[in-house]
Amino acid sequence: MNLKELSRTLRIPINRYFAFRRLRQYHSLPRSIEETVDWAMNFGRYGYFTITTLQKREEILALARAVAELRPRIILEIGTARGGTLLIWSSLASDKVISCDLVHRQPQKVLLESLPPPGSRCQVRLLTGNSHDPAFKQRVAGELNGEMVDFLFIDGDHTEEGVTADYQDYREFVRPAGMIAFHDIVERQPFATNQVHHLWRKIKQTGVVEEYISDPNQCGFGIGVIRV
Ligand SMILES: C[S@@+](CC[C@H](N)C(=O)[O-])C[C@H]1O[C@@H](n2cnc3c(N)ncnc32)[C@H](O)[C@@H]1O
Repeated sequence: MNLKELSRTLRIPINRYFAFRRLRQYHSLPRSIEETVDWAMNFGRYGYFTITTLQKREEILALARAVAELRPRIILEIGTARGGTLLIWSSLASDKVISCDLVHRQPQKVLLESLPPPGSRCQVRLLTGNSHDPAFKQRVAGELNGEMVDFLFIDGDHTEEGVTADYQDYREFVRPAGMIAFHDIVERQPFATNQVHHLWRKIKQTGVVEEYISDPNQCGFGIGVIRV
């Protein structure tokens, strides 16, 4: 364990206390979609209990509005990270959000599972593992138990091979007229391994798509949406 991890570990009880206090604040009022997005971006930093998202506000807001129009029951997300987009999905799905990541979300699991607003019957299910592993896909199928997903958010492995595999493996779970969104679709990217744009270019050639891009010249970000 390095020094940073040790310090975070020692501060777990304090950070947990302040993060749950912040969660109660978030839950204290009904939140509009705009407010929910702002909470996802500015929930706060509490060591392991930090919730945040690396998204552009207007892009993720446009996506959240489109997802809300679906009146989703079930949302599947590849890429939990710091739980920011999970916070948004958990305010929109009526039944379940399944959020997947390579990294095990302990000890913040209990905070992330508590994200749905008061009165919601939405359950948050956090699955740990590699989305490309066939056994992991089986676990997702088990969570769905024959039900279809209204919205799939692909924001995990950003290599061309990885994002293509996620698209091919998980789109079968999306119901007809449901939606699939990809993050980081713009061509200019800060890292060579961000290759979503290669897949996105191919998808764009095959049919009607929607794009939420704040600035055509931006480096990184950008959300692409297809309807199933
Ligand atoms: C960009 S972050 C997700 C951000 C999050 N959706 C948000 O905006 O709040 C990408 C996450 O995907 C996870 N990831 C990368 N490759 C993965 C894989 N093959 N299977 C599952 N998760 C993966 C990483 O561990 C990382 O936490």
